[in-house]
Amino acid sequence: MDSVYIYGTGSGARKYFNHQQQFLVLGFIDSNATANSTTFCNLPVLAPTQLTELAFDYIILANEYAATFYTLRDLSIPLEKIKFIYYKGLMEVVSKESQYYFEQYHNPEQPLAAYYSLAMSYQHAANLESLYSSEFDYVRFKLLELLAEQIQKQNINGNLAEVGVFRGTFARVINSLFADRTLYLFDTFAGFNPTERETDIQQGYAEPAFFTRSNNFADTSVELVMQRMPHPTRCIPKVGYFPDSLEGLEDQFALVSIDVDLYTPMLNAIEYFYPRLAAGGYLMLHDYNHAEFRGVKQAVADYEAKHGKLAKVPVPDQGGSIIITKLG
Ligand SMILES: C[S@@+](CC[C@H](N)C(=O)[O-])C[C@H]1O[C@@H](n2cnc3c(N)ncnc32)[C@H](O)[C@@H]1O
Repeated sequence: MDSVYIYGTGSGARKYFNHQQQFLVLGFIDSNATANSTTFCNLPVLAPTQLTELAFDYIILANEYAATFYTLRDLSIPLEKIKFIYYKGLMEVVSKESQYYFEQYHNPEQPLAAYYSLAMSYQHAANLESLYSSEFDYVRFKLLELLAEQIQKQNINGNLAEVGVFRGTFARVINSLFADRTLYLFDTFAGFNPTERETDIQQGYAEPAFFTRSNNFADTSVELVMQRMPHPTRCIPKVGYFPDSLEGLEDQFALVSIDVDLYTPMLNAIEYFYPRLAAGGYLMLHDYNHAEFRGVKQAVADYEAKHGKLAKVPVPDQGGSIIITKLG
């Protein structure tokens, strides 16, 4: 039987210890352990530095703190000796090799914790830029997962949409969480509308340098996005300039992500979707508190000045999103 230390002395570690039968547990690791540390689950609690002198087959990470990865990396513990646990109903042990995470990243059916585990693997943890890049925005993805759970549990009816899909990184997770609902994918699939981009520059909402720096989001296509969707038959691409691409669409929505960076499409999208949002549903507005896309906040303010206050909840994800919900 392989021997392991469990990194963590919290409720997750205890639960894992009590349920697992796969490994011989030698003890627990706690970042704050001292020589006087007491036992946990009747086993010794050791400091991470002691690991370099101990024999073991694996370390089981029973927490989700990136700092523990950095600690193990700094102690030169090889990645293949580290295993992750995570919750999805029941706690389960990911018992395959680290390659598993890389494969899972490309499979949006997997629990979001797998994305997180990937993001925190050594290769990525070594580079904070990459850890916090939007592809691995844990807070944003986890928030989506929790909102989806609320919608399902409370039987909130309605379909889904994303305005501003680009290459489908966020849309594919929406699609994976709602296999039985229609997902409308709104984008030009050719980048920003030049007039809208100019408006933001003229109004001082965005710096011209941003648009020269970025690729303008033109490097995508409907085919590419549809290939990434786990349930493509539930997806309806709405190609072209929003709101023209609505083409008279009438529907009720349970969750809509609006990620268009600019003032005009943000205002147009709120104007269209808020009245069609089911009670208990959610609008996710990306970049509301983003320093570079100031038009987003202005669009929300202008909408509120015209129609009244929205119920806004700020979120500490990378873009500084806000969630807007609606009471019944
Ligand atoms: C930041 S990207 C979206 C990223 C995507 N949500 C993700 O998480 O990977 C912004 C997108 O908004 C689209 N967009 C901006 N204004 C638009 C408009 N008026 N109509 C359609 N698409 C628009 C751009 O083409 C671009 O692909």
